[in-house]
Amino acid sequence: MSVLTEPFDLTASLAHSAERVEQVLDAITADKPLPGETRRPARLVAAMRHALLAGGKRFRPFLVVECARLFRPDDIEEDGLWRVAAAVECLHTYSLIHDDLPAMDDDDLRRGKPTVHRAFDEATAILAGDALLTLAFDMLAHDDSHPDPAVRADLVAVLARACGVGGMAGGQILDLAAESDKPDADEVRTIQLMKTGALFAAACEMGALWAGAGKDDRAALADYGRMLGLAFQIADDLIDVHATPEMAGKATGKDAGRGKATFVSVLGADLAHDLLGRSVADSELCLARFGDAAQGLVAAARFAASRNR
Ligand code: IPE
Ligand code: IPE
Ligand code: MG
Ligand code: MG
Ligand code: MG
Repeated sequence: MSVLTEPFDLTASLAHSAERVEQVLDAITADKPLPGETRRPARLVAAMRHALLAGGKRFRPFLVVECARLFRPDDIEEDGLWRVAAAVECLHTYSLIHDDLPAMDDDDLRRGKPTVHRAFDEATAILAGDALLTLAFDMLAHDDSHPDPAVRADLVAVLARACGVGGMAGGQILDLAAESDKPDADEVRTIQLMKTGALFAAACEMGALWAGAGKDDRAALADYGRMLGLAFQIADDLIDVHATPEMAGKATGKDAGRGKATFVSVLGADLAHDLLGRSVADSELCLARFGDAAQGLVAAARFAASRNR
């Protein structure tokens, strides 16, 4: 295992990650049909690109690559790995498009631009989400992602399990129900681990899988991702309270009005902030077995806690 000797430059690393991922996203959403496709309707392609190429932080793809770095540090510029990272970003972007729909959080601003249903219309937003969700699995299943079909099947299985009824989609319905159910802190934790933690855990495990990590290392990184996802969502809920829409690139000050169940609403901002610190510390504990090689992931955990967008 290689040990990084230079201090980890998170800003540069996130910028590099965004650049590489955006190259893949741009190419994969070109107008030209892929083999087996009939036609790519211009309006749907435009809606997908509106959401995808709007300047997200690309934090989940960054986690994919940083987890792969632990096991194959010399191969992290390989195109296949960035394809896996971009697939995770497609899945995440689908979840944002649907999260913003009038039937869900009803938001008008995302990544500093009008949401897809505002810039286009609701039916187009639903279909752009559907197309990005399926595109993620299309990308993972293709041999450009990894030469070993067993690894590709595992990548598909991990992402699917994380995002379905017992993961992100399940967490999203609990989040909506909680607007009227008034859950306690334990239930809020479950919702946040499902709606956000599950995809973070999958992103980390997928990077490890791509790089051939063993079962225990994969499990440790999935645990790290899950705790980091919890921290990330608590930070998001604090951003809703403290940040401006200009800083966040999305509406803020909305969760309380909609009766969202968050640690901020259940415990108050100060205790939510304490819990954020503890979740980051818990995520870092999962990295102990990797030593200094995990310094990029330690930096990522601290970023998740201190970010303001
Ligand atoms: C927003 O995710 C949704 C949450 C799970 C909190 P991000 O904060 O990663 O949004 P982008 O991708 O940078 O726009
Ligand atoms: C989103 O949580 C979680 C998802 C799975 C998309 P939020 O609803 O708090 O995310 P924002 O604040 O709209 O980005
Ligand atoms: Mg939501
Ligand atoms: Mg929302
Ligand atoms: Mg939010």
